[in-house]
Amino acid sequence: MTTTIALITGANKGIGLATARQLGARGMTVLLGARDETRGREAERTLRAEGVDARFVSLDVTDEKSAAAVAELVEREYGHLDVLVNNAGIVRADGTALPSETTLATLREVYETNVFGVVAVTNALLPLLRRAPAARIVNVSSEVGSIAVMTDPRGALFELTSVPYPSSKTALNMITAMYAKELRDTPIRVNAANPGYCATDLNHHSGFRTPEQGAEVSVHLATLPADGPSGLLWGYQMDAGGGYGVLPW
Ligand SMILES: NC(=O)c1ccc[n+]([C@@H]2O[C@H](COP(=O)([O-])OP(=O)(O)OC[C@H]3O[C@@H](n4cnc5c(N)ncnc54)[C@H](OP(=O)(O)O)[C@@H]3O)[C@@H](O)[C@H]2O)c1
Repeated sequence: MTTTIALITGANKGIGLATARQLGARGMTVLLGARDETRGREAERTLRAEGVDARFVSLDVTDEKSAAAVAELVEREYGHLDVLVNNAGIVRADGTALPSETTLATLREVYETNVFGVVAVTNALLPLLRRAPAARIVNVSSEVGSIAVMTDPRGALFELTSVPYPSSKTALNMITAMYAKELRDTPIRVNAANPGYCATDLNHHSGFRTPEQGAEVSVHLATLPADGPSGLLWGYQMDAGGGYGVLPW
């Protein structure tokens, strides 16, 4: 039987680590993408101690050479990739987080990771994903990337005005939809995940969900059946009172 190989970016902590743990518990070999070797090896040790077939791979998503090196490693050692979870992400806000006070430096920094990084990693790995019987690509997005959710005056997020992070996830949503279109005649399914507001370093642990709960969303999309959907933003629905489902773009 061929081993199922999953690559998770930003897998050394938070939702990424929990996603690797859950995919590993399903018997997958999980490649833990991390930009820092010490943190990546620590995560590898943690998951291995739990019985997961985990392997640290050095991956800074803002560095195309790093993405190419991971693709070479996967090609050499496994010959294909079944699951890619584009999970790495950062938040930055300028001052009072008003659009009028947004700096291009912050915008560029956030887009380098949350937007350009996803395209770089996906394009580097796509030839290997095409070689899998039915690959899954999961782009970890957010409901703050949904224009419909963010502009609903009755919604919980209406007061948020920050530009860099939300707009980076809006771009990621469109990127997801476009890859899904390009790949619609293949067995590959491409979806965006909304983990919900989870307590991680990203938000100084202010989230009301756990990283494990957030990871459930990525795992669901990473293990969709052959007739599963493609090109959706799916996950936690805060404005619908919790539960999982399709969110509006
Ligand atoms: N937490 C939430 O409430 C929430 C809600 C919606 C969506 N999300 C999304 O979920 C994803 C995971 O976030 P999280 O909450 O788990 O945050 P986190 O605990 O801060 O983890 C972020 C991960 O991304 C990695 N990373 C950042 N820049 C990177 C780069 N250039 N190359 C490789 N890895 C990089 C970090 O590595 P280092 O340790 O080296 O920094 C870390 O492993 C993100 O895409 C985030 O936008 C989170």
